Amino acid sequence: MRLSVIGCGYLGAVHAAAMASIGHEVVGIDVDEAKIAALRAGSAPFFEPGLSEILTSGVASGRLTFTTEMAAASGAAVHFLAVGTPQTTGGHAADLTFVNAAVEGLLPYLRPGDIVAGKSTVPVGTAARLAALIEPTGATLVWNPEFLREGWAVQDTVDPDRLVVGVTAGATDVVQTMKDVYHTAVAKGTPFIVTDYATAELVKVAANAFLATKISFINAMAEVAEVTGADVTQLADAIGFDQRIGRRFLGAGIGFGGGCLPKDIRAFTARAEELGRAESVGFLREVDAINLRRRDRAVQLVVGALDGVVFQKKVAVLGAAFKPHSDDIRDSPALEVASRLKGLGADVVVTDPQALENAARVHPQLTYEPSLDETLRGADVVVLVTEWDEYRRQLTPEHAGSLVAQRVVVDGRNSYDPALWRAAGWTYYGMGRP
Ligand code: UDX
Repeated sequence: MRLSVIGCGYLGAVHAAAMASIGHEVVGIDVDEAKIAALRAGSAPFFEPGLSEILTSGVASGRLTFTTEMAAASGAAVHFLAVGTPQTTGGHAADLTFVNAAVEGLLPYLRPGDIVAGKSTVPVGTAARLAALIEPTGATLVWNPEFLREGWAVQDTVDPDRLVVGVTAGATDVVQTMKDVYHTAVAKGTPFIVTDYATAELVKVAANAFLATKISFINAMAEVAEVTGADVTQLADAIGFDQRIGRRFLGAGIGFGGGCLPKDIRAFTARAEELGRAESVGFLREVDAINLRRRDRAVQLVVGALDGVVFQKKVAVLGAAFKPHSDDIRDSPALEVASRLKGLGADVVVTDPQALENAARVHPQLTYEPSLDETLRGADVVVLVTEWDEYRRQLTPEHAGSLVAQRVVVDGRNSYDPALWRAAGWTYYGMGRP
């Protein structure tokens, strides 16, 4: 099938390359010339495992092309909207500028029978509004949210847990076309949920709200553990054995960040307020507040570990990305902790296997060091904030201990075994564990 993908960021670039990898002919369109030039050359403009391979093979096959010209969308059977919906400046609502511009730009090229498939995360009600703009062209809008995780984006796109397609009543051929698009997943029996626009839009925000709530729930337990001497990681293991609860997303620590969970729960709250249902999702404000308090807690632990004297102490910060397997630093708890320690006068040195370039652009005041050993050398305290395997599994307390000035570690992701580190002479501080 011929497909177009409007917007080639994290979502769109992966979607375009993944669709080409399952046999479609795909054109990716974006206004950013530098991004398009990189993608055309088969190079991923951000770190995402597996993406370079499918980009290179897609471009080489001739089935995957990239352009800044919206006219190239002409002739595609399905046009995916994959532009960003960031948080508005000075507010909590989603900024729909890019979605609106993408639809406006696409309208002249739509033909009767075309499908426009919205993938961007939008406030409920957006699809119905966009459908009214698209209908006069004879094209049909479907809402097809994505659930990809950064770091697993290629796998999540080609082999998702479920597919959700929101349509207007009676759109059966449209549903069949969407099944043809995702033919490999459909052939595997992946759940394929056909619903209305509002449900499809809500599925996405509800999923992210649930995940954020799960993380903040365990972080709230960590706060209680901190005043009672309990261990939140054991608590998470114990409740996680209950299959109704499950252990995943019960990792207590410095909390969630990234380009999705924080802004999606805020946009959901803002939209619920507009709909007169503020009280229904009022708990999401608390979820947000708990999450942000964990960053404060990590800073407090470091200050305490240094006996309150932070000035000119060397703080080795392991991690900058908002999570491992990503170079994304949007709303990264790791960088917020690092910046606040720097603000208190510490000599902060940050290392990360992938995100240093991005971090340096946004936080030029911090010192960055690609080598883990150099970061650790002479440190007065080590702070683990992004649990890359390099820091979590490969770094031993003995090796780290041979480099630092003081064996003090603040484990912002509860990734280390405290007994091992203490046995090697370290003073260990975790998040919600003794
Ligand atoms: C999320 C959703 O998982 C995905 O389905 C949606 O499409 C986009 O948003 P992503 O932002 O890539 O994906 O990251 P995710 O793996 O969900 O992690 C989000 C944040 O939560 C990270 O900062 C991570 O460190 C944190 N987290 C995750 C925890 O603090 N504890 C956990 O147990 C799990």
